[in-house]
Amino acid sequence: MKQGYGERVERAAAAIPPEYRPRTAVILGSGLSGIVEGLGFKEIPYSEIPEFPRPTVQGHKGLLCLSKDAAILAGRFHFYEGHPMDDVVLPIFFLKALGVQNLILTNAAGGINTKYVPGDLVLIQDHINLMGTNAFIGPNPSDPSGKPLGERFFDMSEVYSKDLRALAWSCAEKPLKEGVYAGLTGPSYETPAEIRMLRTLGADLVGMSTVPEATAARYLGMRVLGISCVTNMAAGISKTPLAHAEVVEVGKRAESELKALLLKILAKLA
Ligand code: HPA
Repeated sequence: MKQGYGERVERAAAAIPPEYRPRTAVILGSGLSGIVEGLGFKEIPYSEIPEFPRPTVQGHKGLLCLSKDAAILAGRFHFYEGHPMDDVVLPIFFLKALGVQNLILTNAAGGINTKYVPGDLVLIQDHINLMGTNAFIGPNPSDPSGKPLGERFFDMSEVYSKDLRALAWSCAEKPLKEGVYAGLTGPSYETPAEIRMLRTLGADLVGMSTVPEATAARYLGMRVLGISCVTNMAAGISKTPLAHAEVVEVGKRAESELKALLLKILAKLA
């Protein structure tokens, strides 16, 4: 990470009124931003948070929604948008600075596992980083006094918390699925040959986010829950070409189920 990263994080966190110190945060993926509607949370546009870049993708709002117990981020920063990794993971450092201990990452993903159907909610058991880089390359970030924010070499043996997965199961109305998420940069979708490769490597899901954020959360010692919404079967499984509009559309249909699940999980963690 670049020098001065800790200062950037502190500037961002200083913009949040002190009465909002949530313990749990949710990041909403493509097409899932509607979840924040009607919650009555305090809304802060990303444009009012220093150091936050602006999201550029359709279906991403760029809104921080706050209650006493929870923060919901509608909109994330993707590597494929051209944001440097420092910016991709900045919200995670920002949330940690507010006191967040539990991070729920949601995303839209392609289904590689043929047991999945579009609209399924899948708990992420583990991930495979195929982005070709790591947000922590470069100086180990430190706070303004020079104290490192985490360890240089950090453990990744249980990125996605077993306890939080058990909690999610206890909140679900119908059985959830579980699987391994492969993170690629995008923005092109995969070729059928790449999907066959990913299946061989042990991936059940494929997407263009989550891996850097989950890595940053582990660096910072947060517990992570990952929930993928399968918006389409991956390339070569479905006979039809992939389209972003379909990803957003299926995300919208799964939104109410995901919202109900998230609200129950948030209530249990409050
Ligand atoms: N591939 C990569 N990312 C995605 C997909 C996909 O098929 N669907 C939604 N996000």
